[in-house]
Amino acid sequence: MGWAYQIAMKILVKLGEIFGATHLIPISSAHISGVSYKTVGEPLIKFLEDIVEKGGSVKVTSTLNPSSIDPKHLNSMGLPEDLKDKQIHIVKLYERIGIKPTLTCTPYYIQRPYVGSHLAWAESSAVVYANSILRAWTNREGGPSALASALIGKTPNYGMHIPENRRASISIDIDCEIKGEVEFGALGIYVGRILGDEIPYFKGLRTSEEVELKHLGAALASTGMTPIFHLGTEPEYKGSLEQISIDSSVISRTIEDLSTSSERPNMVFIGCPHCSSREIERVAEFLDGRKVSKDVRLWVCTSRHVKNKAKTYVERIEASGGTVLSGMCPVVTWLKEMGIETVMTNSAKAAYYIPALNKVGVKLASTRECIEAACNPKG
Ligand code: F3S
Repeated sequence: MGWAYQIAMKILVKLGEIFGATHLIPISSAHISGVSYKTVGEPLIKFLEDIVEKGGSVKVTSTLNPSSIDPKHLNSMGLPEDLKDKQIHIVKLYERIGIKPTLTCTPYYIQRPYVGSHLAWAESSAVVYANSILRAWTNREGGPSALASALIGKTPNYGMHIPENRRASISIDIDCEIKGEVEFGALGIYVGRILGDEIPYFKGLRTSEEVELKHLGAALASTGMTPIFHLGTEPEYKGSLEQISIDSSVISRTIEDLSTSSERPNMVFIGCPHCSSREIERVAEFLDGRKVSKDVRLWVCTSRHVKNKAKTYVERIEASGGTVLSGMCPVVTWLKEMGIETVMTNSAKAAYYIPALNKVGVKLASTRECIEAACNPKG
């Protein structure tokens, strides 16, 4: 079938050999990361050009992670022309392979995978969400292996595709009340660091908010390697059971450690992982018609799909002077080059990555506090 499929099969067979898979299994969808020109650069462009030239085309529904820019807001981003051109070229190449330019890290808001369906998803936050909340089955793929699975329509049968490997192996006993996306995110950052290869069961953790679980999973996968967590009814464990207790001092210390700056932010960012319609609605409610201060950019990030769905709230945010961007991730864009010094965010994942990837300061606070800071010139 030619070079493109040959190289994809080589990647999948090698992975299968490393992890002891006996065969390939069909997948329902693939989600591909490695889109931002800032993080992937020229080698990816060359690889994608070769796949296009050799006629590679995906066999299953395939979606794409965020890029580094929102073409609709290029002027306000003020980035050099060549960076924009390279980014647009990468997305076009993926499209020519048949991948939908969804450009989001929350593809499950566009199409929810079925319970028990096998996937090949890259993007660690989406992987944890798919396995833990949606109860679909996916390993934590890298960009190249997700792309290879998209081209073949299959993945090697190992890891999260085997029922025994999905069992919890450590109990995280929650001895305090955890509430709001920031505390859930801080819990994920702390537990991810100490987990190693273990799969956690969060004993005593209660929430009815899907958004809090999204932040927990995204943070957990930032500092750790786990692709799944368990919640609710005590699950069946794998091996001898270890227990770790979490109290409120652990959570407050983690939030403090993640905030690297006490300066007034010149960017407030909500939407890591990309916002649901409900999160956009909450931002509009907290703004309540007030104007965003002139010295701050308020960025709310989501997919084009959710932005269209939440049109009324998007209009309210934009009337207040905020910007709702689609298809991009501020963590993998050029914040420093845009004149950003300090970012305030409600996302523990973003707070963990932004200082390292962008060399700018960060403050972690709830959505309400973020919006207050954006509207208050002295905030
Ligand atoms: Fe999504 Fe970027 Fe955060 S890809 S999960 S918004 S780091």
